[in-house]
Amino acid sequence: DLSPIEKAKFVAAKRASQLVEDGMRVGLGTGSTAAWLVRCLGERVRDEGLQITAVPTSIRTAELAREVGIEVVTLDQAKWLDLTIDGADEFDPQLGLIKGGGGALLQEKIVATASDTMVVIADAGKEVATLGAFPLPVEVIPFGFQTTRALVEETLGSMDVLGRETALRMDGDAPFVTDEGNRILDLHLKRIGNARQTALALNQIPGVVENGLFIDICDRVIIGYGDGRIEMRD
Ligand code: A5P
Repeated sequence: DLSPIEKAKFVAAKRASQLVEDGMRVGLGTGSTAAWLVRCLGERVRDEGLQITAVPTSIRTAELAREVGIEVVTLDQAKWLDLTIDGADEFDPQLGLIKGGGGALLQEKIVATASDTMVVIADAGKEVATLGAFPLPVEVIPFGFQTTRALVEETLGSMDVLGRETALRMDGDAPFVTDEGNRILDLHLKRIGNARQTALALNQIPGVVENGLFIDICDRVIIGYGDGRIEMRD
C-alpha cells in the first residue's frame, strides 16, 4: 500500500507512461517520481513488448532502467528525442520549473532541450504561484568554486529575489559531486520575481555550468493527487 504522496507520484507517472508509443525515443528523468515512470515503462516493455530508445538523465536512472529491462543509450546515440518525462521540484502557472533537487539538473536540461516534448510528472504539492521557495540548484565546476560562489552572491544582489543565501550541497561530510564531477550551490532565494532574468544572469558567470530554472522547456504537467486523481496543465 502506497502513502498518499507516493500514490500521487505513481498515478502521474502511470498516466505519463501511456504517452509513450512504440518506436519512440524517450528521455527518462531522475528522482522518486521519475523512478515510478521508469518502472511503469519497464512493465510495458515486458508485458507488451514495447520498443523504445531510452536516454537516462543520470547514472541512477540508467541503473534502474536496466534493472527493469529497459535498454539505455546515450543522448548522442539517440541524437534527438520525441518525448522526455521527468519530475520537478516546483512548477508555476507558466510551466516554469525548478529542478535539480536530486542533483541531475545538467543532464536533465540537456535531455529536455533535445526533446520535441517535455512532460513533467508531479504531486500536487509541487505547484507554486511563484518559483523560489525550493532552493535553486546551480551546478558549478570545482575549479575556483569559492570565487564562483562569491560571484553568484554578487549577481544575486541585483536580482529580483527575496533571499540571497547560498549553501554548498553536502553528501555527509564531503561536498556533493554530480554525475559530471561538479558541485552544487543551493540558492535560498525564497521568491524569484523574474525567473528568466535570473537564469540568464547565473549562466553568464564563467564557473556556472547550468542552473535548475527550466523556462519555456516544459510543455505539460501531469499532477497526481493522493486520492488517485490526476490533472493536466498545458
Ligand atoms: C532531479 O535532479 C530533480 O530535478 C528531480 O526531478 C526533482 O528533484 C524531483 O524529484 P522527486 O520526484 O523525487 O520529487
